[in-house]
Amino acid sequence: MECEGISRSFRNYVDNKSTDTIVKTKRTEILEKKKAIDDVIKAASAHKDPLSAFPAFRFYSRHGMSMYLESGRGDKLSAPVKKYIQNLLKVNMERHYGSQWPLEEKVKRREMAAPEARYIFVYEVPNGSPCETSKTSDGKRTITNCLVDRGTMVGFAHFRFVREEGIPVLYVYELQLEARVRGMGLGKFLMQLLENIAQKSDMGAVMLTVQKSNFGAINFYTSVLSFYP
Ligand SMILES: CC(C)(COP(=O)(O)OP(=O)(O)OC[C@H]1O[C@@H](n2cnc3c(N)ncnc32)[C@H](O)[C@@H]1OP(=O)(O)O)[C@@H](O)C(=O)NCCC(=O)NCCS
Repeated sequence: MECEGISRSFRNYVDNKSTDTIVKTKRTEILEKKKAIDDVIKAASAHKDPLSAFPAFRFYSRHGMSMYLESGRGDKLSAPVKKYIQNLLKVNMERHYGSQWPLEEKVKRREMAAPEARYIFVYEVPNGSPCETSKTSDGKRTITNCLVDRGTMVGFAHFRFVREEGIPVLYVYELQLEARVRGMGLGKFLMQLLENIAQKSDMGAVMLTVQKSNFGAINFYTSVLSFYP
């Protein structure tokens, strides 16, 4: 038994030596790749204001309404903003989760304030707020600059830079607008901004999850924005 064991052990040792080298090389490659992805995610997450690279996305005007966009982070949310997010999530999402909602609400509350959570907040600029308008250099878009009052919040996007299926992705955790500002292109505008942020941050994709019962959102993401399951 012992001899058999040793000899098997020896053969195993010889076999293992070559296998071990291959495994080690592969492991090193995998670890290096993982580190490179983690570095990309770290760099993206370290950016203080991902919106700053896209000044044309700071403001949005449609149907006589003007919106102002601002970025934020989960660990810097004020109490009123937390309350606002919770309320809007409840109003928009409770029916999609049904009896699962109390549990899901707790999960969302935790996710909301996580240090890795990144936000784009949308504020309605009140009428009469002093704004300057100017054209971008290509003359295609008007930039409105409202310096005084950023008004009341009307929606938000919560996103994170994470690794999914081996690639760095911008994961959209939430895209939530109040009913009164839907259907005027704001959702599309925010998703375009998130895609721009993802590209600029070297993310390989934009990902999100939608409740199966949320037909409107599924249509929005798949038919309008060409997301695929
Ligand atoms: C889903 C949501 C973000 C879309 O934003 P929005 O500002 O209303 O969408 P837009 O005005 O940019 O719409 C863009 C296009 O999508 C279509 N669309 C948007 N929402 C739709 C809906 N609920 N049902 C069918 N089509 C919809 C619009 O008809 C529009 O088409 P068009 O470009 O041909 O005119 C918004 O409706 C919302 O906040 N819903 C409640 C929360 C939610 O379900 N969030 C998604 C889950 S994370």
